Amino acid sequence: MKYKRMSRIIIPSNIILVVLLFSCSVAKKNTGPLSLKEAYKNSFMIGTAVNAVQIEEKEPNAAKIIPQEFNALTPENSMKCEIIHPYWDTYHFELADKLIAYGNKNNIPIMGHTLIWHSQLSQFVKNIKNADSLKLFFENHISTIAARYDGKIYSWDVVNEALNEDGSMRNSTFLEKLGPDYVIEAFKIAQKAAPKTELYYNDYNIEQPKKRAGAIALIKKIQAAGVRIDGVGIQGHWKVNNVPFKEIEESIIAFSKLGIKVMFTELDLTVLPNPWEVNTADVNMKAENNAYFNPYPKELPDSVQQMFSKDYTELFKLFQKHHKEVFRVTLWGLNDQQSWLNNWPIYGRTNYPLLFDRDFKPKNAYFKVIDIATQKK
Ligand code: XIL
Repeated sequence: MKYKRMSRIIIPSNIILVVLLFSCSVAKKNTGPLSLKEAYKNSFMIGTAVNAVQIEEKEPNAAKIIPQEFNALTPENSMKCEIIHPYWDTYHFELADKLIAYGNKNNIPIMGHTLIWHSQLSQFVKNIKNADSLKLFFENHISTIAARYDGKIYSWDVVNEALNEDGSMRNSTFLEKLGPDYVIEAFKIAQKAAPKTELYYNDYNIEQPKKRAGAIALIKKIQAAGVRIDGVGIQGHWKVNNVPFKEIEESIIAFSKLGIKVMFTELDLTVLPNPWEVNTADVNMKAENNAYFNPYPKELPDSVQQMFSKDYTELFKLFQKHHKEVFRVTLWGLNDQQSWLNNWPIYGRTNYPLLFDRDFKPKNAYFKVIDIATQKK
């Protein structure tokens, strides 16, 4: 009797389970597979860097994938000094304006990159000899661009790469002529011109202890001056099989203690040999090409592909573990073909650093990254 009663209960609940599973699978089919931005919507923003072709939607694959996968866009080059402000009195806003329109159309916020940087400076700035003229450029440049896009973009990398590897201030025309407080000054001008825009400091290798300490000191100095800084961007140009996981985790914790947002702003993982011992993302450093430095011109061997997937998986596990502190993760480009790492630090190599391959197909690492998001936090 007892057995019979139980079986009556068990059978319907099994049926319910089957019905439930069936309806879930139907629901899943209806909504389609998760995208990166959907998978991480409760954790952090997922961004990509966009180039001119993509902003102008001249590449149909990119035009389809970008709005589907990402909810933050950084201009790869179009807001840099040499493009947006080529001569003293001339600004070329066309491409940046198109980016704003593209963001509006697709409802994706724009992360401005970058106001003050020693690289990709216009020639006229490099030619400035005296401090007064440089100061005038500095004020005009920041206030003109920041004011134009205030309320239209989400954030600015106000200063990019102001530090050396040992944490000291990098020698540049800004440091030389304006002194070490130029960084505070840049944030002050940006704050005034763009009250509705978040303001960030951005750099590579600032997960490394010495450079991190320099970045923390710099951020504290800005804060102590009563100037607004909303976040820090760790670029994240790392190397497969050599990702500094421990330092990355320490940095998330240390930077978030400053009360600011922590972001990974230019993530990619090179699979190619480094011509130098140091890990750098200094765009001015160049080396000669030869076969040794370009080992995979046709395709990436499975063994490397696996390391690549594993590193991306571990990285996103870490980001996910710290989703309360990590505000955004931006990949530096959409697919392998577009990546700057095909031409830097050596011109004309074949690199494989991103989540989409040369045919715009999501790689194994892409699916692993999505899986991480759906695992329990
Ligand atoms: C790179 C772009 O991807 C290239 O197209 C350009 O030729 C050089 O700059 N750190 C930064 C980015 O802050 O702006 C750089 O972007 C990569 C390193």
